[in-house]
Amino acid sequence: MLNDVQEVLFSEEKLASIVKEMGKKISEDYRDKNLLLVSVLKGSVVFMADLMRAIEIPCRVDFMSVSSYGAGVKTSGIVKIVKDLDIPLEGFDVLVVEDILDSGMTLSYILELLRSRNPRSIRLCTLLDKPERRTANVTADYVGAAVPDEFIIGYGLDYDEKYRNLPFVGVLKPEVYGG
Ligand code: IMP
Ligand code: MG
Repeated sequence: MLNDVQEVLFSEEKLASIVKEMGKKISEDYRDKNLLLVSVLKGSVVFMADLMRAIEIPCRVDFMSVSSYGAGVKTSGIVKIVKDLDIPLEGFDVLVVEDILDSGMTLSYILELLRSRNPRSIRLCTLLDKPERRTANVTADYVGAAVPDEFIIGYGLDYDEKYRNLPFVGVLKPEVYGG
């Protein structure tokens, strides 16, 4: 598995400090709110697990799973809900937790759907951001770090469902995906 990594971008220690800072900021901003963390499976599961423990105020968590319609490597923006949330959103200050914001097409759909359920507020928190790739009008309220336009793996992020268990964030060697 390690042989497929071109470069480590963020070590385990660096990720821990990034996530700790994000948790602190969120704890300050949501002190008098009714925080509900919504994780979009599966990529954000490692980040979510660490972020929720870096948050020092009461909060709830819920999970949803979506799949993009359309074949190929490009996100179509048409999204199917595979697993919906369990909690109705009314009265909650929702913070959507994502692994990486790429084109933003998926997130744009999810945010619109969740907004229609009348949460008290809704914001977006992403560990990684690839700003050069954005086509949809989505900006994150909390960003851990920007990454270059390369294929990123580890700490939850996969290529073909592999590499999610790497403890660091790195760049996948292009020869692995025929790039
Ligand atoms: P978007 O709709 O193009 O923003 O796609 C976002 C989703 O694509 C993310 O939640 C990831 O699951 C996946 N994704 C985008 N870029 C990468 C990457 O570099 N590595 C792994 N997954 C990625
Ligand atoms: Mg994802």
